[in-house]
Amino acid sequence: MNTLYFGDNLEVMREMDGQRVDLICTDPPFNSGRDYNAFLTDSLAQSKAFTDTWTWDDPAQDARADIERRARTSDTYKALDTCLKGYDLVLQNAVSGNKGSMRAYLAFMGPRLAEMHRILKDTGSIYLHCDPTASHYLKGVMDAIWDQTNRKKNANFRNEIVWHYRRWTAGNKDFQRMHDTILRYTKSDKFKFNVQFEPYGDWIKKDYSHVDEEGRRWRWHTVKGKRYKVYLEDENKGVKLNDVWQIPYLGSTAKERLGYPTQKPRALYERMIQASSNEGDLVMDPFAGCGTTIDAAHTLNRFWIGIDLTILSLDPMRRRLYDRHGLEPSKDYEIHGYPTNMQEVHMLVRDERKYHDFSNWAVTRLGLQPTKSVGDGGKDGEAEVGHITLWDPEAGETTNTRILAEVKSGKPTISQVRAFCRVMDKHDAIGVFITIEPVSAGMRQEAADMGTFSHNNETFPRLQFWQIDDTYFENPSSLRSLIRLPQQWLEPMRKMERHFTDTQMTLLRS
Ligand SMILES: C[S@@+](CC[C@H](N)C(=O)[O-])C[C@H]1O[C@@H](n2cnc3c(N)ncnc32)[C@H](O)[C@@H]1O
Repeated sequence: MNTLYFGDNLEVMREMDGQRVDLICTDPPFNSGRDYNAFLTDSLAQSKAFTDTWTWDDPAQDARADIERRARTSDTYKALDTCLKGYDLVLQNAVSGNKGSMRAYLAFMGPRLAEMHRILKDTGSIYLHCDPTASHYLKGVMDAIWDQTNRKKNANFRNEIVWHYRRWTAGNKDFQRMHDTILRYTKSDKFKFNVQFEPYGDWIKKDYSHVDEEGRRWRWHTVKGKRYKVYLEDENKGVKLNDVWQIPYLGSTAKERLGYPTQKPRALYERMIQASSNEGDLVMDPFAGCGTTIDAAHTLNRFWIGIDLTILSLDPMRRRLYDRHGLEPSKDYEIHGYPTNMQEVHMLVRDERKYHDFSNWAVTRLGLQPTKSVGDGGKDGEAEVGHITLWDPEAGETTNTRILAEVKSGKPTISQVRAFCRVMDKHDAIGVFITIEPVSAGMRQEAADMGTFSHNNETFPRLQFWQIDDTYFENPSSLRSLIRLPQQWLEPMRKMERHFTDTQMTLLRS
């Protein structure tokens, strides 16, 4: 069945059987140094994924030690280990700056590429989307991994595709960057490939310069001194596609846009899928983002698996699968790693690495967009795990009032509530305090003391509590009556529900 996983793709892929997937099309974080602050969190794994900045820190060194360990028993890891040790020399064993960051990035990407190689069928192909900052290093890593099974030099490297686009860029010191690189490898020399065509350009008018009475273009073709008429329409469907692909960049106002910072055009991924798989094949994207590959795969009647680290990507993915294909979770595809009951919430909370996923999940249930932390509400010296998230509901349109949300996984204390009130006052905000344990009468009194706010002649409490419990999972729309907010602000919350209705929740739990 088509499946979405939420979690670290390395863990998910290590659980998967080898030789399972026909095609991988993927677009990992780039080591671009760009900061996609829509997803800023404090968690180590996540901040790496979303800030896309890398340092030669403990996790990076652990990843390298793990590669070295696995190299003792696996040829693929041995090839990877040797390659990375070579790069250590190239990067002069750097521990900081760009070079240290590249070492860390490769320690992250290396084992993931090794697992992708294992999962691919012998007839399978992979397209790895890179940008110019890392593509040359990744090509070396892929050569090491993909060619160790083929004695012919570079036998499994097939193309370096240039995705050329136009966009407005700032800066006058360099040539404008207008392309990404996509590396195409196959696991063996018995691979699937469907020749793709693109429409003829204007030059064809010059080549096929004759036009018959029916308007058909033709040219003379001479074989052994004899001339034949060759009709354009008889030759083929267009020009065979080369390795420079002109596909428009998704501008900020593009209709296809879902608000996910690194979203790529669907046409780009459809092209890869059409070229290297057939209907009924299984396509995987282990860095699925907002689901461009899986949307393209579904459009082209392929089965699919999507994996992403953040729970935040699952909402746009689900919305897109519903809006474009009418697909619903559990009925039409499986979701793993997304809390569907309190037991799973507790599991997320207990796993330190996933705490922020829980927190982000909770905040996004309210239709709020986690943006950045503005200070912690807890000042009582306890270990703090909550964070505060800012949302400006309808920038400038309805109000400048901010909603702050604080998520507490443990037993909430009155001092935490008071500290949260102070932060609300400082930011002139309204607040939702989210817990999984009950709040006390004293805390409710603090909330009452915060008073009310008015919007369009209606009055709402300034501080409200949401205790996540089974009621929510039984009926997600109960949240709308529990947390009282102006009608227009509730629209994003409704969208959350529309794609996760009660029946689906029940199905998911069964
Ligand atoms: C460049 S974006 C992919 C965008 C995608 N092509 C699209 O069109 O939406 C990279 C994605 O990789 C995800 N990611 C980063 N590290 C990951 C990991 N270890 N496991 C799974 N996903 C990860 C990030 O959450 C992010 O959504």
